[in-house]
Amino acid sequence: MNQDTAITLSHVCKAYANGTVALADLNLAIGEGEFVSLVGPSGCGKSTVLRLIAGLGKMSAGTIHWGGHHSQKELAFVFQEAALMPWATVWDNVRLPLKLAGASKAIADRAIAEAINLVDLKGFEQAYPRELSGGMKMRVSIARALVTKPEILMMDEPFGARG
Ligand SMILES: Nc1ncnc2c1ncn2[C@@H]1O[C@H](COP(=O)(O)OP(=O)(O)OP(=O)(O)O)[C@@H](O)[C@H]1O
Ligand SMILES: [Mg+2]
Repeated sequence: MNQDTAITLSHVCKAYANGTVALADLNLAIGEGEFVSLVGPSGCGKSTVLRLIAGLGKMSAGTIHWGGHHSQKELAFVFQEAALMPWATVWDNVRLPLKLAGASKAIADRAIAEAINLVDLKGFEQAYPRELSGGMKMRVSIARALVTKPEILMMDEPFGARG
């Protein structure tokens, strides 16, 4: 194994409860600082791989090894469906991970404004998800992932919805 490997999947298998085998003997090494895209037809298991790396669901077999100083804790996830809280504004949706981490208001406010700026949604801070286009919702979801400045960013088709 390469010393600079951040995440290594070895012989990973995933069979869902209904018997669908989504992954069979997957081997994948993701290097430090690497940008990796998983490409393949619908249903081939791309989202399944991301969820297993993120610890959302159990593998049926195999191992995931975290190299260097990395761990699942430094990971942020942009889901294939934007997965926003419909009752909360853009600002509060982006704030969620900082709230969960117990960040102070001053630090959180600056980080939230920065993340919203970065995805070009300045002016929409008080809007609700139902008032946004599909692409805008995805951008809120991306801002929410970036707001903690994660070491590892997993994005599941974040640019699928254009808006
Ligand atoms: N919770 C589940 N229960 C049963 N089968 C599932 C579940 N989630 C996914 N699958 C199945 O696992 C396979 C892989 O699904 P996955 O969502 O990983 O595909 P994908 O490559 O992300 O597809 P897409 O490009 O359409 O997003 C599919 O056959 C799907 O039907
Ligand atoms: Mg998918």
